[in-house]
Amino acid sequence: MSATAGNASGAGAGAEVIAGLARLPGGCELLALATEREDVALVGGAVRDLLLARTPRELDVVVDGAAAAFAQELADALAALGGGAPSSTGHQRFGTALVVWEGGRIDIAERRAESYPSPGALPEVRAGTLEEDLARRDFTVNAIAVPLSGRLAGELLCAEHAQEDLREGRLRVLHEGSFLDDPTRLLRLARYSARLGFEAEPRTAELAREALAAGALDTVSRARIGAELRLALAESDAVAALGAISELGALAAIERRLRLDESLARRALALLPGDGRPDLLLMASLLLPLSIDPDEDPEPVMFELLDGLEFTAGDRECVMRTALVAPGLFKELSLAAKPSEMHEALSAHTIEAIALGGAMGEGTSSVTAEAEIWFERLRHVHLEITGQDLLDAGIPAGPQVGWRLTHALARKLDGELGGGREAELTAALELDVR
Ligand code: CTP
Repeated sequence: MSATAGNASGAGAGAEVIAGLARLPGGCELLALATEREDVALVGGAVRDLLLARTPRELDVVVDGAAAAFAQELADALAALGGGAPSSTGHQRFGTALVVWEGGRIDIAERRAESYPSPGALPEVRAGTLEEDLARRDFTVNAIAVPLSGRLAGELLCAEHAQEDLREGRLRVLHEGSFLDDPTRLLRLARYSARLGFEAEPRTAELAREALAAGALDTVSRARIGAELRLALAESDAVAALGAISELGALAAIERRLRLDESLARRALALLPGDGRPDLLLMASLLLPLSIDPDEDPEPVMFELLDGLEFTAGDRECVMRTALVAPGLFKELSLAAKPSEMHEALSAHTIEAIALGGAMGEGTSSVTAEAEIWFERLRHVHLEITGQDLLDAGIPAGPQVGWRLTHALARKLDGELGGGREAELTAALELDVR
């Protein structure tokens, strides 16, 4: 495949990209630096999104060498704007560098050509031309570049079909072996189709099905699959992204018992308060079939799966605690009649588990309503008094301090106390602990 220099419409589109870039944070600084050299091009998702009048998640830039030095120059130019100091990190071995600042992320990479020594393996990389750099990419709509400097500045360079695929909303691989070379592209296909509302071009859809049927996902490291899955979980409509992954058959290829119940997932997300982690809640929802499998101890299976996918220890813990307890929480919530009973059932659990357990009540049941009440009101109810107040009142140190505080909180939750510390103290002291 060769990338083709833009024709008249390509040049018009290139100008549109440059105008769009100039309006983005950091865009003017990038354009100014680019004019001092010959080799800077905006590539990939950033160009695709500007042509679709969407805001890119980040800017991807290629240069012909010394990515780290260019990143440093860019970071210095952005620092001159004031505000938070930009950081620039380079990976010399990979020829990549990243500038992160309060306005966003700019990825810089040295142009490269890739070849795959074996299916699913990491590619072998060497320096390449811009055309070669585009040819190593996943889909035509991502194989697009606009040089910001040099002879072709402002032209649109793209893989064959890229412009028509962008116009028609199609995802098309660049060559027949694409999914076998890099099977994580199967997950990317689903993620982009959900995000952009694009459809897989028929031959691409066929190649995806064939690759899945041939077990392509088994040839990639679990860590890389985990990284792609986390990108899907972080999408603004992550349920749609997971839905597309599931529909493609890729979810079952990762672990046959993973299941997406879209309507449950959406109900649970709607319940989850702003301080919750939607990505972890969704991951836990996929694991629910494992939680309720009577034939297998779910804990080691979940641990192995999440560990292999390289979820961090904290995230893995939260996902497991959520998936393991949500079904039981649903039952407990349906039995809890009073706020104090809800507190007893819920206070030790993750908010993700409570949202998922609450959503298992089909959205209209009292269980969902109870989870809502918990999130909106009850979880914020605390005592004004502390154990020290009880010790000062003559209660001996020991477990009864905790029992008395729990008793006072239960009465407060159930609306049986007038306001203030005095009422709480009286309630705590009234408990008969003999
Ligand atoms: N890429 C690829 N195969 C992969 C991962 C990435 O070919 N397994 C290419 C794609 O062409 C993509 C580019 O590398 O355009 C950069 O990847 P990434 O930053 O993940 O995607 P973006 O194109 O920037 O898209 P977005 O960030 O909007 O998802």
